[in-house]
Amino acid sequence: MARRKTGRLGVGLIGTKFMGKAHSHAWASAGPFFDLPLAIDLVTVAGRDPAETHEFGKRWGWRKSVAQWQLAVLDAEVDLVDVSTPNHVHADMSIAALEAGKHVACEKPLAGTLADARAMVKAAKKAKGQKTFVWFNYRRCPAVALAHQLVRDGRLGKLFHVRASYLQDWGGPDTPLLWRFQADQAGSGAHGDLNAHIIDMARFVTGQEFTEVSGAIEHTFVKERAIVESAGGAISGRGAKAKGKRTGRSTVDDAVLFLARFSGGAIGSFEATRLATGNKNRNQIEVNGEHGSIKFDFERMNELQWWDNTAPKALQGWTTIMCTEGVHPYAGNYWPPAHLIGYEQGFVSMAADIAMVLGGSKPVVPLPDFEDALKTQCVLEAAVLSARERRPVSLKELG
Ligand SMILES: NC(=O)c1ccc[n+]([C@@H]2O[C@H](COP(=O)([O-])OP(=O)(O)OC[C@H]3O[C@@H](n4cnc5c(N)ncnc54)[C@H](O)[C@@H]3O)[C@@H](O)[C@H]2O)c1
Repeated sequence: MARRKTGRLGVGLIGTKFMGKAHSHAWASAGPFFDLPLAIDLVTVAGRDPAETHEFGKRWGWRKSVAQWQLAVLDAEVDLVDVSTPNHVHADMSIAALEAGKHVACEKPLAGTLADARAMVKAAKKAKGQKTFVWFNYRRCPAVALAHQLVRDGRLGKLFHVRASYLQDWGGPDTPLLWRFQADQAGSGAHGDLNAHIIDMARFVTGQEFTEVSGAIEHTFVKERAIVESAGGAISGRGAKAKGKRTGRSTVDDAVLFLARFSGGAIGSFEATRLATGNKNRNQIEVNGEHGSIKFDFERMNELQWWDNTAPKALQGWTTIMCTEGVHPYAGNYWPPAHLIGYEQGFVSMAADIAMVLGGSKPVVPLPDFEDALKTQCVLEAAVLSARERRPVSLKELG
């Protein structure tokens, strides 16, 4: 029997492009797929262009649309502000929302800079009961959530290695100078965009914190990119309108690699790049422990690879677990066993868990808040320091 809803959750979304779409779909779908304590109400969407925002609102089911984000923050019907804009405005929008008494769900990385991230945590600590959330959506792939549960339950035993990489290939020389290549808007390049995800995943799956980062390399392959009038419709700027033949300087990394030590004694390697030709969205993590290992690759997101080191030698081998059974985290909320889920369900499951927490229930697996995401931001900062100063950086240095 469906749970009786004890109230409503009015959502105000800021941002109408890639994440704007993913989150609109998530807020609209969480109620039908999950038995939530709160009814989710898509109150208002904020964009910059009034006509475009209105069109977006109509298409994705928002009751109102506004062309100034402050109006969404101050809307009395809004309980939670969803910040889905570039990184340099996360702090202003989230802090204004907290000051207006709203819960906040902000996109990752928490901010473009460590200073902004710290200001956000300070505002969250001053809040009077409001909660914060950060959209590290990969935690909610059933396979990643299962990996977290296996480690938590001791199935891997003592952890030795973490091997994570997030490889994409859309950032070649033909890709124009979008906001993702401008440090004043993005903070960093592949680092904040992709390493942020695998740092969070490593912390989530292992349950260990980073203690030291060393051996980092930060590299920009494409120094100049075409200046465009409009961003186009895709991450890569496909469809963007060029502004003559003018080019501008990319001020972010294209790739960052680093090594790490963890609080429980594990060691790890991390790599993020947008120029790994042939890798489309290869977000991978492998963890090796005394009793077993796990491997995840987002390009095969419904599967978790499992090695049982306690099995008789003759039977040992990698097992592919299709994480689509009712016993797997989140899977039972969607389709019958063996019917695969996709990218968007990570966001749907996250919207559902947010509504669970705000309605007084527990999420299926832990949700990151601003304080948690600050730990990931500190690791990002430590890697930049390690690369630029060519030295090991203890996380203690960053407080
Ligand atoms: N969780 C994930 O897997 C994931 C994936 C992609 C992007 N992101 C994050 O989501 C955020 C947005 O990325 P995106 O890919 O959706 O970018 P995008 O360029 O597709 O969309 C950005 C949106 O923000 C709006 N915007 C920009 N500046 C604004 C301002 N000052 N006021 C109001 N609106 C403004 C734009 O008009 C646009 O609608 C970033 O922080 C990014 O790192 C997360």
